[in-house]
Amino acid sequence: YLVCPMNASPYVDPHKPSQEIWEEFSMSFTPAVRDVVDFAKRISGFCDLPEHDQVGLLKAGTFEVLMVRFASLFNAVERTVTFLSGKRYSLDTLRALGAGELLNSMCEFSEKLAALRLDSEEMSLFTAVVLVSADRSGIQDLNSVEALQDKLIRGLRNLVMQNHGEESSTTFTKLLLKLPELRSLNNMHSEELLSFKVHP
Ligand code: HEM
Repeated sequence: YLVCPMNASPYVDPHKPSQEIWEEFSMSFTPAVRDVVDFAKRISGFCDLPEHDQVGLLKAGTFEVLMVRFASLFNAVERTVTFLSGKRYSLDTLRALGAGELLNSMCEFSEKLAALRLDSEEMSLFTAVVLVSADRSGIQDLNSVEALQDKLIRGLRNLVMQNHGEESSTTFTKLLLKLPELRSLNNMHSEELLSFKVHP
């Protein structure tokens, strides 16, 4: 089984060589990763960062951006996850196929993000903040990354303040608190990825 929703389905043919399983899995998630790169290029100021730092932020932050983008794959009310093929599975089924606590954490994250009711412009700016807030280890031009982050956060704040009336301060605060949550989901997910073997 391969219980990541970026795959087409959690079921893999047990007779298939693992290299082929990986190849098919990559075909499934590569377009999404490419979209993150294209999205990054469209963040004003991102392309002015040193190339080394662009790559570093993308490496560290792509999962977090995808997590936000694909949060709607998780349906906390119905307790289901839709895989990239469009097929839907219950959390219980995925649990039985080997998914762990991380699956529930992602589901919870998605539910709380949806509760903030961001429109597409806010979602896009929030996603930009997520990307430039990615892990900074190895970043060369910290000042420029921080300046870009500040600019994006101010933009997000203005937008949320315009759109969310009485709730705007709490909504903005909750959004910023999503950043460490995403980092933690990223770290837990990396562990799953690294320890992944096609389960017998
Ligand atoms: C688990 C790869 C992105 C959600 C996994 C596993 C791998 C993997 C190898 C372990 C599967 C297993 O043990 O059966 C990747 C790769 C990604 C990616 C290469 C890069 C695009 C994502 C994203 C999400 C996600 C963006 C969420 C939207 C999950 C979940 C699990 C998982 C829920 C199961 C966690 C658990 O066991 O509790 N992923 N993944 N993955 N991934 Fe991904």
